[in-house]
Amino acid sequence: MATAVPPAASRIAVVTGASSGIGAATARRLAEAGYRVVLTARRKDRIEALAEEITAAGHQSTAYPLDVTDRAAVDEFATAFRTIGVLVNNAGGALGADPVATGDPEQWRTMYETNVLGTLHLTQALLPKLDASGDGTVVVVTSTAGHATYEGGAGYVAAKHGAHVLAETLRLEIVGRPVRVIEIAPGMVRTEEFALTRFGGDTEKAAKVYQGVAEPLTADDVADTITWAVTRPPHVNIDLLVVRPRAQASNTKVHRES
Ligand SMILES: NC(=O)c1ccc[n+]([C@@H]2O[C@H](COP(=O)([O-])OP(=O)(O)OC[C@H]3O[C@@H](n4cnc5c(N)ncnc54)[C@H](OP(=O)(O)O)[C@@H]3O)[C@@H](O)[C@H]2O)c1
Repeated sequence: MATAVPPAASRIAVVTGASSGIGAATARRLAEAGYRVVLTARRKDRIEALAEEITAAGHQSTAYPLDVTDRAAVDEFATAFRTIGVLVNNAGGALGADPVATGDPEQWRTMYETNVLGTLHLTQALLPKLDASGDGTVVVVTSTAGHATYEGGAGYVAAKHGAHVLAETLRLEIVGRPVRVIEIAPGMVRTEEFALTRFGGDTEKAAKVYQGVAEPLTADDVADTITWAVTRPPHVNIDLLVVRPRAQASNTKVHRES
């Protein structure tokens, strides 16, 4: 199905966590689809470099450094817009892989604050602007961890379940308003930083996550999925899209070749 250029009132797409991985790839794809992409993340240098790259490619992009856990900063950010078309809540990630018995409460707290409250902050602040566009879309990037658990994953799984519940509840609460709520739940995606961040920079542990897996998803695979869902006609709501690599049948059933 061909995708149309978004109408003026809904042409701005805000992407959180756009400094790396899925967020950066999504910003590139949405820009190619005709959106003016607003890149946010904490690392200013990275989003500025990406905004320059997107602009040099003939698209429209701006960078705005933002910590999604900082509510005052998010509210200030929202004042920059009259209307926006798309909000991609992508900022987040996992910290640690310890069992419940020994997991670090501080890591659990950070995961909840980033994946759940970060999504809540942006969604609350920008919902009036999405409404005002007459055709808004909220995307929540959760995970297959938002739908089933695995040993060592409880802190992340709990946070992503929280993000899933936010998306599902919001969809119920705003039905009748011109805003769609789309949840994208990826399985294993090999991005540069996700596993490294999870394991505190330990490259060996990070590499093990993908060991022997023929083709984990790439950031661009997920960006393609997000962009496809966002560019459906306004009356089509992709509620939930689970996307995994072929080699992964569940969070715990992964085919490894070595
Ligand atoms: N990779 C996977 O296997 C996988 C699978 C399923 C779901 N996901 C989810 O997909 C999303 C993107 O993951 P990824 O693989 O692309 O990981 P990534 O490369 O580590 O990206 C995480 C992004 O979140 C941003 N971020 C983290 N904390 C933030 C904060 N407090 N405020 C603002 N931005 C913050 C980071 O930017 P700064 O550090 O510059 O702020 C970064 O841009 C995450 O929500 C993740 O949970 C990933």
